[in-house]
Amino acid sequence: MVKFRSDIVGIDASIIMNPTVWEKSGHVKEFTDPLIECKICHQRFRADKAEEIKEHEKTHKEKVSWTEPKKFNLLLEAFVGVVEPKEKAYLRGEITQGAFVNFENVVSSTRVKIPFGIAQIGKAFRNEITPGNFTYRSREFEQMELEYFVHEKEADKWFKYWKKERIKWYQSLGMKKTNLRFRNHETHERAHYAREAEDIEYKAPFGWSEFEGIHNRGDYDLSAHNLVYKGESEQFTPWVIEASGGVDRSALFFLIDAYHEEKDRIVLKLHPKLAPYKVAVFPLLANKPELVLKAQKIYDDLKKEFNTAWDDRGNIGKRYFAQDEAGTPFCVTVDFNTLEDDTVTVRDRDTTKQERVKVSNLSAHLTFKLA
Ligand code: GAP
Repeated sequence: MVKFRSDIVGIDASIIMNPTVWEKSGHVKEFTDPLIECKICHQRFRADKAEEIKEHEKTHKEKVSWTEPKKFNLLLEAFVGVVEPKEKAYLRGEITQGAFVNFENVVSSTRVKIPFGIAQIGKAFRNEITPGNFTYRSREFEQMELEYFVHEKEADKWFKYWKKERIKWYQSLGMKKTNLRFRNHETHERAHYAREAEDIEYKAPFGWSEFEGIHNRGDYDLSAHNLVYKGESEQFTPWVIEASGGVDRSALFFLIDAYHEEKDRIVLKLHPKLAPYKVAVFPLLANKPELVLKAQKIYDDLKKEFNTAWDDRGNIGKRYFAQDEAGTPFCVTVDFNTLEDDTVTVRDRDTTKQERVKVSNLSAHLTFKLA
């Protein structure tokens, strides 16, 4: 969003902001989940999570009765300053508000014009009632968001546009189309700021699960913070179309789609852009100094351009399988031929095919293949 588009700029806002930001944004009052408590064991659950409630009921022999749902605020509190009593602040419950309170800074420093977007990645914190499902629901997590500022009359158009763009993006990085769907929020489900909300859901082993929300936030936030857009010939409060994704949730789902068990190996067919290592370098034998030295030189050179792994343990087959499990798209082996003709073996993770490549051409070869 930030590198390839000229209508979107990136920021990195604060995690702890003045608490009035969260009062104005409505989070102090409205950022709640419905909480119920099991009257037998006093465990607490979200009243809107029927599956989790059902599961819990099975853990008791006697019939469970529940307390009435009450609103539980999700903001995590922090206490700041050196004078007692310390001032109450909040860890950000969504990274979003940082984009809004920096709206004027962005407009005046980058001279963007409506329609334009502010994108951001960063940690958010929520005092979740029931964290769980691996990294799916945690109290500290990473969000990636776009706040796209538009004219009110164009809000619908941009809402549809960003829905399409976002689902395309997940597919382009390896999520299977059949594992993805949209789900529109009923009015009563929407967050306090949303006029319209559509989730992107993934067919997880624990059921269809939301991992990105496309929201029409109207002029809710900018109005709450008393902010307006001042263009060359116009002054108004823009509407906001938001794409708000979870880095942890999408990483979990990318992993699920990438995981393959084949006849004789387990392989993580991650998109090269997502693979933690792009290439691994091995000397064929760890006890031949001439091979190790040559491999080390290649490793040092590749490291400047790619995230590169090194492995000289065990036999070559085991090293290939270890990199397959980590999702490394290419492995480079330095053998005795390398010392003679300056070529190496490059093995492709997905096909397991190997080819000889000149060391002088290795970096260009990998750049081409990884793209
Ligand atoms: N700014 C809008 C917003 O925060 P949200 O639907 O509450 O919207 C956006 O959160 C995304 O953040 C979710 O789609 C999800 O991927 C991620 N997310 C929310 N709560 C999370 C949690 N407790 N653990 C992991 N990810 C979470």
